[in-house]
Amino acid sequence: MTFNNLLVTGGCGFIGSNFVRYWMAHHPESHIVVYDKLTYAGRQENLADLWEDSRLSLVVGDITDLDAVRRACQEHQIDLIVNFAAETHVDQSILGPLVFTDTNVRGTHVLLEVARELGLRLHHISTDEVYGHIRDDHQSVETDELAPRSPYAASKAAADQLVQAYAITYDLPVTITRGANNVGPYQYPEKAVPLFSTNAILGEAIPVYGDGLQMRDYAHVYDHCTGIEAVLLRGEIGEVYNVGTGREMTNLEMVDIVLETLSKSHDLVRHVTDRAGHDRRYSMNVDKLRALGWQPRYDPKEAVAEAARWYADNRSWWEPIRSGEFREYYERQYAERLAGTAQ
Ligand code: NAD
Ligand code: TYD
Repeated sequence: MTFNNLLVTGGCGFIGSNFVRYWMAHHPESHIVVYDKLTYAGRQENLADLWEDSRLSLVVGDITDLDAVRRACQEHQIDLIVNFAAETHVDQSILGPLVFTDTNVRGTHVLLEVARELGLRLHHISTDEVYGHIRDDHQSVETDELAPRSPYAASKAAADQLVQAYAITYDLPVTITRGANNVGPYQYPEKAVPLFSTNAILGEAIPVYGDGLQMRDYAHVYDHCTGIEAVLLRGEIGEVYNVGTGREMTNLEMVDIVLETLSKSHDLVRHVTDRAGHDRRYSMNVDKLRALGWQPRYDPKEAVAEAARWYADNRSWWEPIRSGEFREYYERQYAERLAGTAQ
């Protein structure tokens, strides 16, 4: 199967930009249009070395704008939409949830409408958070009920279900991947692994929520990209596929790997007030994706270590971000939590 012209929404964000880079390297016949609103998390510089390539172009736009999405698809003769565009951070969704519904639910709905009108295939990027937090003896499988618990997860679950509803009602050719916690290059430093890595490099406190025994499957973004590729090329239309390593660790174990990789002291760790409604454990079974011939290149430890090294080697990428509007968010989210925790 080949795709001539892809509309990659959210292609300037963390996973989207890694996907664009991966796809251009492995599918030289494709043209890619990145469609991105360039929110705080969307950064053109994530693809700085590729904008000169005639196979890549950028449309700055909002996925909730039906006319603009339709125009971009028609002008560029799009045959596949890959939807990464979203508000993505759970803590931001606790502070200001409404934009999560606008972009993640209504935005995905608009993409579905355009895909229906123009007869396009749509691949939607969902998350393991739609399953909610799960008990210790279970791994989520694709047929499990969705039970989201944060405004972010609820908006992603609504989008996931809209995509499935369009497949059933309109026979729209869709596929969905549900990704685990991704780590790797160009992840905005609000998320745990880049936040802890950059704080450690700067010698700043590492704010671990609660007891730090929550469990996550930290998967390398490279493996998410190859998982999406496997589903695009060999997945069954209408189906959902989990993408992760299938192995989880506690946040304290993740912190240990970050600190060891960066040769930093444990004294930086502070246990701070927990996140509201904090999901205790995510864990997915990824056998369905493996059956397509996919396997991850990185185990979770290597993934976290590799990500921490990238932040050590790429200060020029994150230093301007951390000194800008990120500061305001950081103060709001952590100042009170960290006050009085100094060792
Ligand atoms: P990100 O926050 O780094 O990037 C999101 C991108 O979407 C940015 O480029 C932003 O500008 C763009 N965007 C936001 N609102 C938009 C709008 N209304 N219209 C157009 N563009 C808009 O996110 P990410 O971590 O790369 O996540 C990408 C996708 O993968 C999301 O759908 C997310 O839910 C999903 N996902 C993420 C993870 C993870 O660990 N990061 C895990 C599983 C699934
Ligand atoms: P995060 O990267 O925000 O991803 P998600 O909430 O989507 O899993 O957080 C990963 C884990 O790290 C999660 O259990 C919350 C925890 N965490 C902290 O302990 N401290 C922090 O400052 C952040 C941002 C996250």
